[in-house]
Amino acid sequence: MQFDTLMIARLRAARHVIVFTGAGVSQESGIPTFRDAMTGLWSNFNPEDLATVEAFTAHPDQVWGWYEWRRKAVMITQPNPAHQAIAAMAAHVPKLTVVTQNVDDLHERAGIQGVIHLHGSLHEPRCSDCGRQYELPAGVPDIEGDGMHVMPPRCNHCGGWVRPGVVWFGEPLPGDTWGQAKEAVRSCDLMFSIGTSAVIYPAAVMPFEAAERGACVIQVNPMPTDLDPVASFNLRGKAGEVMAAIFNAAWGPHER
Ligand code: APR
Repeated sequence: MQFDTLMIARLRAARHVIVFTGAGVSQESGIPTFRDAMTGLWSNFNPEDLATVEAFTAHPDQVWGWYEWRRKAVMITQPNPAHQAIAAMAAHVPKLTVVTQNVDDLHERAGIQGVIHLHGSLHEPRCSDCGRQYELPAGVPDIEGDGMHVMPPRCNHCGGWVRPGVVWFGEPLPGDTWGQAKEAVRSCDLMFSIGTSAVIYPAAVMPFEAAERGACVIQVNPMPTDLDPVASFNLRGKAGEVMAAIFNAAWGPHER
């Protein structure tokens, strides 16, 4: 894979790199992207109808089951070459901040610390009434088949339903998390936007703001997106292949 020498030079000279990721970065780990057709029994459902407070209130077993099914899928898979190349890059640039829309923990498992999860995490549920965090049993969720009906646990303190610790449609981003992400955008000089359709706001504003502030924006996606016209470089391809090749072009082969 050949890259523009200017792009590689800008990467090598960058002081603060933000890696902004979406579902496409976990696709090569076998996690379907959000807008892909859902598999198995879930193929009859639209994710945007399940990821709401209203859906959870009406059908807590269905919504909790869907998230437990996804959490199981994440726990039995591994970080892929994209997560690994990003983690390896963190050792070569003065500062690297990962800001993700993903609710999995694959960046952390590849070795990145302090990941900013704009849309929360599958692994940090909380009470839907009192807000206290709930500790999930260790290990892979013990659900049957596709987890179509799994009642959520009850909060140990107030007895309310425990809900997934993710941001649903219609909910604001957690203020502290969003504040950290915006702060990072103000100080970055280079941003990767990898595997995101860049259509869900406010998260999608990140690469647009970075470009407006003069940062070099490198987009990695097999498909065109709304970001194409403002990105400094549009790299069409799979995240794992492209990120591993970029690392190699900038710093040589890395160990996995
Ligand atoms: N490598 C890179 N990009 C990929 C790959 C891959 N292997 N496979 C798919 N893609 C791209 C698709 O072309 C698409 O542009 O990843 C993008 C995935 O888009 P979405 O499914 O819309 O996911 P995302 O952008 O993360 O969605 C944002 O929307 O629904 C909400 O909360 C949900 O966090 C999610 C947010």
